[in-house]
Amino acid sequence: MPRRLLVTSALPYANGSIHFGHLVEYIQTDIWVRFQKMRGHEVHYVCADDTHGTAIMLRAEKEGITAEALIDRVWAEHKRDFDGFLVAFDNYYSTHADETRTLSEDIYRKLRDRGLIDVRSVEQFYDPVKSMFLPDRFIKGECPKCGAKDQYGDSCEVCGSTYSPTDLKNPYSVVSGATPVRKASDHYFFRLSHEDCQRFLKNWTQTGEHLQEEARNKIREWFDQGLNDWDISRDAPYFGFEIPDAPGKYFYVWLDAPIGYLGSFRNLANMRGLDFDAFAKPGSDTEMVHFIGKDILYFHALFWPAMLEFAGFRTPTQVFAHGFLTVNGEKMSKTRGTFITAGSYLTLGLDPEWLRYYYAAKLGPTMEDIDLNLDDFMARVNSDLVGKYVNIASRAAGFIAKRFEGKLAAGEESAAVRALRSRAETIAGHYDQREYAKALREIMAAADEVNQFVDQEKPWDLAKQPENAARLHWVCSQAVEAFRLLTLYLKPVLPAVAARVETFLGIAPLAWEHAAAALPEGHRIDAYRHLMTRIDPKQIEALLEANKESLRPTADAHSQQRHAQHQETVVTQEAPAATPAPAEPGKFVPAPIAPTITIDDFMKIDLRVARVVKAEHVEGAEKLIKLTLDIGSETRQVFAGIKAHYDPTKIEGRLVLMVANLQPRKMRFGESQGMILAASGEDTGVYLLDVDSGAEPGMRAK
Ligand code: 2FM
Ligand code: ZN
Repeated sequence: MPRRLLVTSALPYANGSIHFGHLVEYIQTDIWVRFQKMRGHEVHYVCADDTHGTAIMLRAEKEGITAEALIDRVWAEHKRDFDGFLVAFDNYYSTHADETRTLSEDIYRKLRDRGLIDVRSVEQFYDPVKSMFLPDRFIKGECPKCGAKDQYGDSCEVCGSTYSPTDLKNPYSVVSGATPVRKASDHYFFRLSHEDCQRFLKNWTQTGEHLQEEARNKIREWFDQGLNDWDISRDAPYFGFEIPDAPGKYFYVWLDAPIGYLGSFRNLANMRGLDFDAFAKPGSDTEMVHFIGKDILYFHALFWPAMLEFAGFRTPTQVFAHGFLTVNGEKMSKTRGTFITAGSYLTLGLDPEWLRYYYAAKLGPTMEDIDLNLDDFMARVNSDLVGKYVNIASRAAGFIAKRFEGKLAAGEESAAVRALRSRAETIAGHYDQREYAKALREIMAAADEVNQFVDQEKPWDLAKQPENAARLHWVCSQAVEAFRLLTLYLKPVLPAVAARVETFLGIAPLAWEHAAAALPEGHRIDAYRHLMTRIDPKQIEALLEANKESLRPTADAHSQQRHAQHQETVVTQEAPAATPAPAEPGKFVPAPIAPTITIDDFMKIDLRVARVVKAEHVEGAEKLIKLTLDIGSETRQVFAGIKAHYDPTKIEGRLVLMVANLQPRKMRFGESQGMILAASGEDTGVYLLDVDSGAEPGMRAK
């Protein structure tokens, strides 16, 4: 019976790059989706960027662009990365879209009319300089337990204790550096503690197959602690959807994020002419399956089903949670270069199917963390995929092309091929149950058997014995059939390799039912074409190098794992991953090192020693000092933005460094003919670079 499936992966925030941690989930989901499609089921795989919230608003502001411009740019980057890793969504959308807005308003109104929305005054930290309420991640201070400085408002990265932002000592706003004040404002709550919600959730989470056993246990603990009402509003300024009857109040990003699944699907349904209600209303025959990380279980196993149920929608069929990723046994780290972005991997030309294979070889149906061990990654891909799988085709196909006009022989099926064919349903069962590691073990054990068959039959010897031509033809045809079956079984994991094999074998796209029958006698195949290369250790070195950043070590801990906490100390969003955290007063944070340049690039900059002959204030300029510089061969006039840091009279006579070949720039006060060099950080002082005495104006620095 064909199934109908609506499948989702968690929506990534629109303010950071896709990294290896994210990819575990998208690859896991994509494999499942591709498998179900190969089984002939109707599958709609949807996702979107999660675009709302304070972090995105502030990041756009910092970049001097609108939030819309930021989310458009990030959407294109995410789409490129997903395409690059062969994650084949049927629709990749955005939560900042009419479909999601309308559904959010509709769901909210239904909950309100059912008496499940409450309005209550809440006191929170407020930034008096920036005039905004501060999410926990935007407040820092000293840990109340161990006194460590610059800790976030929810937990200490030094001693590991958790607390609420109001417990911090000497708190400050990460946005402006100001000391936050406490301020009250009305908030909208979804009444999760209402007896109807409690009753529904206890039943929904604890019966049926909606959740994994581990998740059910976790949720029982949450029930024991008692379910709190959920604060679903945020005050302006906020980037999101305004609440219909509440001007100045916005839906909290986590309210419209899961609704974004349905928004994306409604958009797809419109494009494909599907009946949205038939999928989304109670009694639907469509299975709705969500793949998520274990850190966001609370949102998906409690808030989301309750929202749907009480707003008159169907509830999820299954919420499936996976674990986190470690690299070489440790948390991903920017300093070690193991916080690997999807973009860097693709840019360096590494094969996305290597990673898909390795992740699949590690994945199972539990919430256990998985480890990407880079040595094991190379060894496994090289030995399994290149050494065992591709090897079969390269050994057999050449003879078929050269000796038998590309045509396959008939004859009885070898034991190895028979055994391989008989594994089809076992392997399918593993994929369906998300037992990918088991599926691949089964497939590779079969590949070993096929290689043994080829080793025993020795086609390279048979080829030298004209009397054994028929045997050679049969052996190689058996090997090709085995290779076709292995490709079919691996296709959910290796779709691009499978497509190349389909071309080379001259066959229609492989579906699961094609496991049943062999290619017919006389079927023509092409000459063998290259399918996959080995991983070179140098590529892994380059990958780590490209991802190394000289950031504070504390940046790591918060970037990968999106907090497991919820309720009202909930972290709204991770700090923008790709943007250095806003400067903290008095503390210098080195920015990441810029991309590598060549010596030739550097030599294009003509740096010269210059003597400051004259330094003067500029009438009407707030920041500038006008400098007259002697560079040996000529005199230059340069306007430098150092007025706040240097007294002009004190710099006359000193040597500085200047960029002598910078294009002159017309300014309101005259032409600036170069630039002098100074060091600075964000919100730090400005420090002119010095030149040791003895140097002469006009000397080149390099
Ligand atoms: O944790 C996150 O990265 C969220 N952006 C996931 C949202 S999933 C869904 F609810 F939209
Ligand atoms: Zn501490």
